[in-house]
Amino acid sequence: MSPSSTVSLTRHLLEEQRAGRINADARLLIEVVARACKSISIAVGKGALGGVLGDAGTAGEASINIQGEAQKKLDVLSNEILMEANAWGGHLAGLASEEMDHSQPIPDVHPRGNYLLLFDPLDGSSNIDVNISVGTIFSVLRCPDGVTTPADEHYLQPGTAQVAAGYCTYGPSTMLVLTIGHGTHAFTLDREIGSFVLTQRGMTIPEETKEFAVNMSNQRFWEAPMQAYVGDLLAGKEGPRGKDFNMRWVASMVADVHRILTRGGIFSYPLDSKCAAKGGKLRLMYEANPMSFLVEQAGGAASTGRQRMLEVQPTGLHQRVPVFLGSKAEVEAAVGYHARHD
Ligand code: AHG
Ligand code: MN
Ligand code: MN
Ligand code: MN
Repeated sequence: MSPSSTVSLTRHLLEEQRAGRINADARLLIEVVARACKSISIAVGKGALGGVLGDAGTAGEASINIQGEAQKKLDVLSNEILMEANAWGGHLAGLASEEMDHSQPIPDVHPRGNYLLLFDPLDGSSNIDVNISVGTIFSVLRCPDGVTTPADEHYLQPGTAQVAAGYCTYGPSTMLVLTIGHGTHAFTLDREIGSFVLTQRGMTIPEETKEFAVNMSNQRFWEAPMQAYVGDLLAGKEGPRGKDFNMRWVASMVADVHRILTRGGIFSYPLDSKCAAKGGKLRLMYEANPMSFLVEQAGGAASTGRQRMLEVQPTGLHQRVPVFLGSKAEVEAAVGYHARHD
């Protein structure tokens, strides 16, 4: 790419601001998140040399987060990096994270802004120790009018209220994929220069697909509609779907969704009898909503199987939901199985 054709994240966001699509505060807030992602990328990239692999906790005692998961060192470190980077920027009123029990208002010593930031600091953290792609997912909401010290309930806004959403994938290259509600755009980190460069404007998910992503080991725990849906996918050409499907499952949502944004497919983490009591496995506020916004903005669809994801009214900060997202026609097919079985 020649220098004259290079569009950095900074330039892209400034152009969006000049077009009236984003204000200066939201633009700068995204810049801060991108900067934090660069730091996380460096920590992830060091691997064993940085002493960042393995479990968090001391003296053989696991550190368990609010999700009931054993935290990895990089879960904790990434959370700290995002917290530290965003605390003093002046654009945020508060933050909430998969790794923290409650949201946190920006400390009084710093100026408070009008936005709320939610994040999954390190997604796919079970993959860290085996050197497979992980990522960071984030979502930006407005702080409700008149609220100066936001509490958990102020974050409970449906996905349609998101101002911006994105993820950063720490894979062979580090990429930031972003939407501010005007398409989904991908930026690749130029490690020599240290800036994100626009490498795909207007990502578009093909409407049809022959590729699905699901953890098949949960098959026996699924509900009837999911059993029927995947049964028909596996039946291939001879089955009612009339085509052979391929399957992929990285177990890092960021990596699986990035593949789908790049070449299509359907990603699902359905309800199963193991996670039914919690409502699903994936988190609405940190995973499902931001990814659904990105996918819809790329022409795809996102659903719980029974409702458009972005219209779910959240009832809890750490709420979980079943997830189906990706190629539009395929998500609609999956939703159809649920409608027929209910
Ligand atoms: P996290 O590492 O942030 O807790 O998220 C893990 C999620 C998601 O990235 C992935 O799609 C899913 O868990 C994998 O679940 P299984 O291990 O059950 O396949
Ligand atoms: Mn986790
Ligand atoms: Mn996650
Ligand atoms: Mn995580």
